[in-house]
Amino acid sequence: MEVIIVKGYDEVGKTAADIIATAMLHKPDLVVGLATGTTPISTYRELVRKHKEGGLDFSKVITFNLDEYLGLPMHHPQSYYTFMWEHLFKDVNINPENIHVPSGQILDHERFCQSYEGEIRRAGGVDVQLLGIGRDGHVGFNEPGSSLYSRTRLKTLTKETVEDNSRLFDNPHEVPRFAVTMGVGTILDARQVVLVASGKPKAQAIADAVEGPISSMCTASALQLHPEVTVVADEDAASLLKRREYYDWVRNNKRQIHEVIEKQIRERLRLDHKEWG
Ligand code: PGA
Repeated sequence: MEVIIVKGYDEVGKTAADIIATAMLHKPDLVVGLATGTTPISTYRELVRKHKEGGLDFSKVITFNLDEYLGLPMHHPQSYYTFMWEHLFKDVNINPENIHVPSGQILDHERFCQSYEGEIRRAGGVDVQLLGIGRDGHVGFNEPGSSLYSRTRLKTLTKETVEDNSRLFDNPHEVPRFAVTMGVGTILDARQVVLVASGKPKAQAIADAVEGPISSMCTASALQLHPEVTVVADEDAASLLKRREYYDWVRNNKRQIHEVIEKQIRERLRLDHKEWG
């Protein structure tokens, strides 16, 4: 797990967008797992800027959203479908056929969830999964106690999550209590994961996810089992990390990796040159 600590919310978005854009340049038909919530907005803003100013091409990109509230019509102002169109899809050249957001209006949940997993598989699996983190350490809507092997399914939200999300609804009683969410197991299947976090309220969750024991009490801690995770946190969200100095040390040294490799190549060429002639 690589931990990148940056100054503030905007830098979190820039760093995460750089990772996603780099992956898109390597693989134009990248399969991206997307998250909603306040934190990823700066990432989407930056991706939109890269598209408008630098021509970042979304035409072949395939997206799968993590979750959706149960019971909200697709075009409800607070649905995650609406959120994604507002913050990303309307401003980039994505093919609407490549967009997948779980439906919040399903009658046969089990069948729907299985078919969502099937669609991800048929697309070749998620290449890069973007994640936010809840105050209780949830990723997607995998609340504490969720199985770390869980797949896409229906979840009951905790009171804390309902309270956190009520700020976005005119009437707090309207906040859905259930959601369809990819499971922790589904998330862990992604080839690469980028988790973004900002602000003091996330500090404990980030400390538990990065340095705590792996536990279903903080489902983000399951990411410790994944070989390719980058946590991008701002100073406030990173403020309870004990090994902060080490993360900065790794990051600063990583910048020199290219120099070391180039030096090795030069040395190798020099030796080859000597051997041959
Ligand atoms: P937030 O939500 O970015 O709005 O804080 C994160 C989450 O609950 O996953």
